[in-house]
Amino acid sequence: MSTMTKQIGENLKSSYTVLRVCIKSVTAVLFLSALSAGSLAGVGEGQELYNAYCQICHGVLGEGQTMGKPLTDAPANRLTDQELIDVITDGRAGTGMAAWEGSLSEVEIFDIASYIRNLQGKPALVLGDDDSGPSDDPNVIAGEMLFNSSADCATCHSYDEKGGSVGPSLDGVGSRLGDDALLQALMNPSASIVSGFGTKEVEQEDGTVIRGRFRNDSELAVQIQSEDGRRWVTYFKERVTAVRDSDESVMPDTFANLGANEQQQLLAFLMSL
Ligand code: HEC
Ligand code: HEC
Repeated sequence: MSTMTKQIGENLKSSYTVLRVCIKSVTAVLFLSALSAGSLAGVGEGQELYNAYCQICHGVLGEGQTMGKPLTDAPANRLTDQELIDVITDGRAGTGMAAWEGSLSEVEIFDIASYIRNLQGKPALVLGDDDSGPSDDPNVIAGEMLFNSSADCATCHSYDEKGGSVGPSLDGVGSRLGDDALLQALMNPSASIVSGFGTKEVEQEDGTVIRGRFRNDSELAVQIQSEDGRRWVTYFKERVTAVRDSDESVMPDTFANLGANEQQQLLAFLMSL
């Protein structure tokens, strides 16, 4: 690594430390710091370079194109800062991803990589800090798999703009709630229900009860979103027996019933969001 890159890494490292202090206090401040850390990293130039050389295959916002892959999906998010620099520098043998080493300087590659982090909604690049960037913690990776498969959280929750809308988006949930409230939300969903995500029960004339996330209400009708998130159904009040607020969360107690290991993994993943 050249002294130049190292130097940039050092400067960034100190601004990242400031950032992390902010994460612990105020999210609004975090947002501003993230922006200024971004411009420190020369993201301005990174963006121009990206648009000139990378956009054609990876898309304007890193969403991916025919000849390239998305740079904002889970595998790309998981690349460590060093891996990100390496893949741009050395390319991927046998694929359309060429080595840019000869055509771009190390600083230019660093700037583009920082811009990619920006597209991923992450703090700017920091070299030599293991805590930074996407996680390569095996617990986090296993937790993400659980979230999207057997624990079935993705039916109702999104992160990085993927997933369902029955429950709140879980981006930044770790710092938003803190450890205790997060654990409580998982172990005992009904103990406190996030405002705007309450449950309604509609009792129909034949006695069946339908539960879902309350969406809208008028004098004549009530609208609820089904528990699988797929349907928004309107019930006319004069055609049902009762419409009730429920103090039970739509969220099932899946988490409480997982094994300790799986709980640990899922928790690690949620904290990484
Ligand atoms: C001709 C098309 C093309 C161009 C131009 C291109 N790439 Fe790629 N890139 C690819 C392909 C294809 C892959 C997937 C390689 C593979 O299968 O592992 C890739 C992979 C990557 C990855 C790894 C993503 C991951 O999830 O592992 C990064 C990062 C990346 N490119 C960044 C860049 C940057 C930065 C530029 C501009 C300097 C660039 N690419 C230019 C085609 C391209
Ligand atoms: C059937 C839909 C559904 C499923 C499945 C579901 N949730 Fe939820 N979740 C909700 C709803 C609705 C809320 C908001 C109401 C409440 O506070 O209980 C919520 C709230 C949460 C919260 C609190 C969020 C906040 O902003 O305070 C967390 C954390 C959470 N869920 C995590 C999970 C995890 C992890 C899983 C998988 C094990 C999961 N949920 C499965 C519907 C669901």
